[in-house]
Amino acid sequence: MAGVDRIGAASLENVSGFEGTEGGAAGARRTAEPDLRIGRPLSELDTPTLLLDRAASDRNLAQMVNFFHARPAKLRPHFKNHKCVTLAKRQLAAGAVGMTCAKLGEAEVLVAHGFPDVLIANQVVGDAKLARLVRLALRAKIAVAVDHEDQAVAISKAATAAGAVVDLLIEVDIGMGRCGVQPGAPAAELAQRVAGLPGVRFAGLQAFEGHLVNVLDRADRTARAKAAMQQAIDTRRMLEAAGVPVGCLSGCSSATYDSTGTMAGVDEVQAGTYATMDRQYHRLVPEFATALSVLVRVISRPGPGKAVLDLGVKGAGGEFGVPEIRDYPDVEIPFFLAEEHTVVRNAPDWPIGQVLQLIPSHACTTCNLYRELVVHEDGVVVDVWPIEASGRLA
Ligand SMILES: Cc1ncc(COP(=O)(O)O)c(C=O)c1O
Repeated sequence: MAGVDRIGAASLENVSGFEGTEGGAAGARRTAEPDLRIGRPLSELDTPTLLLDRAASDRNLAQMVNFFHARPAKLRPHFKNHKCVTLAKRQLAAGAVGMTCAKLGEAEVLVAHGFPDVLIANQVVGDAKLARLVRLALRAKIAVAVDHEDQAVAISKAATAAGAVVDLLIEVDIGMGRCGVQPGAPAAELAQRVAGLPGVRFAGLQAFEGHLVNVLDRADRTARAKAAMQQAIDTRRMLEAAGVPVGCLSGCSSATYDSTGTMAGVDEVQAGTYATMDRQYHRLVPEFATALSVLVRVISRPGPGKAVLDLGVKGAGGEFGVPEIRDYPDVEIPFFLAEEHTVVRNAPDWPIGQVLQLIPSHACTTCNLYRELVVHEDGVVVDVWPIEASGRLA
């Protein structure tokens, strides 16, 4: 964990300088009753409860920002991972330059809490959304991804009418096959057309190597992700050769930060999951700790070795497979499909009522299911942070 000490826990505590509502139980305490869970051991909590190990998350935040400390690219963490304003403030306090969002609704939450610089790494389409987008752009620096002239023209008209300016990043498809214009001439031509529109500013390119983040072999992942990102860098160079300045190339992930994030020509790293981590990402980048878990209880012991936990797919994202039980990596969860139950096969001698922590396979869809993160250290609740953007799908 070289370099973690450079930005320590003290600077992570310094989250002042934001307008708007203060996150966390400390802020809530001013207007409401104190949260009686604070100071209590985890075993006394009701279940299921979404937990965050504060020390582990702080180490993840510091480790990632320190990786980029002396490198050209800077960190713009993806808010979609946790959707929690307090955690996002800690990411900025640790040294991130701004936040990335998947949804306009997430960006609205951040701007309402005083975040001055937000990238929506996604297409924003439709009159209702454009009205919201330009209102937001009157309050903060907002950038949006586009991959077609029609999106850019619509944003340009809405922004011009409102007197706002929206930054545009041309999204380049570097192999994922989701959104994005093809690299090279198609992307460069779109950038040149967009650059002349009023009410918008061509700010650069976005490219996400999402089809490669789950490649388990690290050397293979690195080589393939770099080859993919090179296409966006080449597009950048093509534009610059044509006299079109490219302010920023934004992309990368928690699983490729140390590969594509180090390439000359990449300016911003949109890593998200490193903050909380999950079972899947821990296989990919074990240098980050699994800070997120769901506290669950054994509610039944229906047979020898069999235990049933009070959480199913309605309480944890399962897109990347079954969860793991913290401290019991060998205990087998054969499948993760039931809505409200998880059945464990080779359970040890847990009594009914035993409290356990499930590490979900996918943090981002898990956080989206909860309204708060119960924050703990050394087995004791130390704070409760609202997940303000939970369920913000629009
Ligand atoms: C556009 C974009 N950028 C970056 C990321 C990386 O996030 P993470 O670090 O959680 O993989 C994602 C993940 O889905 C994404 O969609």
